[in-house]
Amino acid sequence: MNEKKSVLIGITGGIAAYKIATLVRLFKKAHWNVIVAMTKNAMEFITPLTFETLSGNPVITDSFERSLPVYGSMEHISLADSIDVFVCAPATGNIIAKAAAGLADDILSTTILALKKETPKIICPAMNVRMYENPATRDNLETLKKRGFIIIEPDAGELACGVEGKGRLPREEVIFAVTERETSGKALSGKKIIVTSGATVESIDPVRYITNHSSGKMGLAVAEECWRLGADVLLISGRDAVPSLTVPQERVTGASEMKEAVLRRLKEKGADLVVMTAAVADYTPEKTESRKIKKGEGGLTLSLKRTPDIISEIKKTSQVPVIGFAAESDNVVEYAREKLKKKGLSLIVANDITQKEGGFRSDFNHCYFVSMEETRELKRMSKRDIAGHLAGEIVLLFNRGR
Ligand code: CTP
Repeated sequence: MNEKKSVLIGITGGIAAYKIATLVRLFKKAHWNVIVAMTKNAMEFITPLTFETLSGNPVITDSFERSLPVYGSMEHISLADSIDVFVCAPATGNIIAKAAAGLADDILSTTILALKKETPKIICPAMNVRMYENPATRDNLETLKKRGFIIIEPDAGELACGVEGKGRLPREEVIFAVTERETSGKALSGKKIIVTSGATVESIDPVRYITNHSSGKMGLAVAEECWRLGADVLLISGRDAVPSLTVPQERVTGASEMKEAVLRRLKEKGADLVVMTAAVADYTPEKTESRKIKKGEGGLTLSLKRTPDIISEIKKTSQVPVIGFAAESDNVVEYAREKLKKKGLSLIVANDITQKEGGFRSDFNHCYFVSMEETRELKRMSKRDIAGHLAGEIVLLFNRGR
């Protein structure tokens, strides 16, 4: 659980200001202390009362209008001193220009100028596409980047002004996730990790295919947790696996395609670790028919062949450590230990699929971390929590140099 970190959210005058209500709720749900500062223009879009109610803290609106500042007599300084991270969302062209120029003419810009060097500063521009692409805004953002500000690029899509283009405030979940990453301590910083997730899909003909029940939730949780801890993560996912809002994701269909994607990434960029969470099909049709198979009178026998074992293929050309996953219904730990040795894994996470309310598609699981040294049982918990424990093991693995 979060040790009650403090975030200062600066809201400026853009239509996306209303979305910050959801952002505040995400922070509160994760036990953050949230302080909101609003510019005059922001208050034209949404009232401070909304944020006072959601954050449980007084909202800062202007430096000179109140006779009694709430956060200390030199409010901008005491605020800047007390927070762990600063987020400006939505950030207008105006506040970006002021921050770049060092202007301080209201409580928000004054506080930005007073922020400590080491406080992560996250800027979420949201505006009309022409304003965003204006060389003045581009230069101001470059200046802020050079000074260590983190800029979350806006999304492309339909803008409030009716035109299509880049300028939409990114999803609240993305802003929250980036803030979590910037304040995590980044124990996996500099590490390149490949995570596979979901089920592979093996085509029989243009209509039918063979797959399995994996949803990709476990792989997603592992990838996002490693990313939160600062790793450079690529998620290679089966076609229908749950998407990530934050981690770059490459989609593949069959086991062979997943193998190719993993090996290509290893060759092109290298990796410090591969986590094979994907439920890779062990068999694929001998032949994929190019035309739809028409039904006949009798039954139909499909001839299947083995798929490549991706872990073995990795081991043929690379020394990279691999963490495997296994779904077992009996002799869970025993079978897992056999796979650990046979596949040369650093660790294997064995899921007990007989447990109620766990396994495929569920948000929960009951599993065992099995390594050569020990077996650790993780009683039923959320896949997010399992990913948290696994990321801890990954940090230890790197610290031990394996
Ligand atoms: N795996 C792989 N390539 C395959 C199949 C599986 O790399 N063609 C990986 C999975 O991603 C997982 C681990 O191997 O990390 C699971 O090992 P495996 O022996 O395939 O487990 P099961 O499929 O559960 O094996 P079995 O059916 O023999 O129990």
